[in-house]
Amino acid sequence: MSEKAKTLYPTKRGDRSKIAIIGAGAVGATLAYACVIAGHASEVVLYDINKQKVQAEALDIAHGIQFTPMSAVSGSDDIEICRDADVVIVTAGAKQKPGQSRLDLADATVGLMKTIIPAVQEVAPDAVYILVTNPVDVVTYASLKISGLSPEQMFGSGTVLDTARLRYLVSLETGVAVQNIHAYVAGEHGDSEVPLWSSAEIGNVPLRHWGPTLSGQQFDTELRERIRKDVVESAYRIIEGKGATNYAVGLAVSQIVGAVMRDEQRVLTISTLLKDWEGISDVCMAAPTIVGRNGAGRVLTPPLTLAERDGLTESAQRLREAARKLGF
Ligand code: LAC
Repeated sequence: MSEKAKTLYPTKRGDRSKIAIIGAGAVGATLAYACVIAGHASEVVLYDINKQKVQAEALDIAHGIQFTPMSAVSGSDDIEICRDADVVIVTAGAKQKPGQSRLDLADATVGLMKTIIPAVQEVAPDAVYILVTNPVDVVTYASLKISGLSPEQMFGSGTVLDTARLRYLVSLETGVAVQNIHAYVAGEHGDSEVPLWSSAEIGNVPLRHWGPTLSGQQFDTELRERIRKDVVESAYRIIEGKGATNYAVGLAVSQIVGAVMRDEQRVLTISTLLKDWEGISDVCMAAPTIVGRNGAGRVLTPPLTLAERDGLTESAQRLREAARKLGF
């Protein structure tokens, strides 16, 4: 393998690697399943206070290893199981009830982080930490303060899932494969998120030049607003119907984990501590960021319209208020 390839795709024979997932609820268990199918690590462990549940989830996945890349899968109510993990993903938290916003969960979940974060840091001080628990932006900001870790080493899943939802909806409107829809959602993982329409492209065609969709409509303000609302309301609709979301968020976070485990240097809209990004500072929220083996890297500064900039500033304000209410 060439020197260049070695740096791009580092692999070493016999490397042991470990992913630890905190919380064996719908999201945590689905994430473990997605990580095993993707073959991200030689070991995937689940931690939860409910011993019977966490061991059952781990065993149910372990029985399927004959059909996936090799991984050892186990579960425990003892945090020791997370020792020396390369990546720790925190999914434990309060469940969003029908009609409840993610920010409504802030008090309960930030309280939980005060216990969980120091405990897992004790056994995995060098891991890259990915927060998924909602409200993920506020939880990430609070967890950075609680842990004292750098914003590179600890970040949130942000709007990686919302970006996927936006791309899915644009794909439906145009008939173009979702993989060729290049568009990002930034800001809060929640009601104030902002689709970055001005930099969106379909293939290499700017979305604003795309022309009529399959239904003959232009990507005008009306269609963009309909799609934005659809993205924002997706989780509420799914929670109304089945009580929780888990598949797409499991796949989205698995992609983030893969970018770290394989040092992919992938651009993902994770929630990271922003410092003078588009004039926004001292808040965790989603922006297109390069993710690799060390965690969150360079935050990209896409061209923004005034409306997009205003929307992101508002999103940041809303998140800062929520963190301040909790004493952060
Ligand atoms: C959702 C949850 C993960 O958006 O917040 O589905």
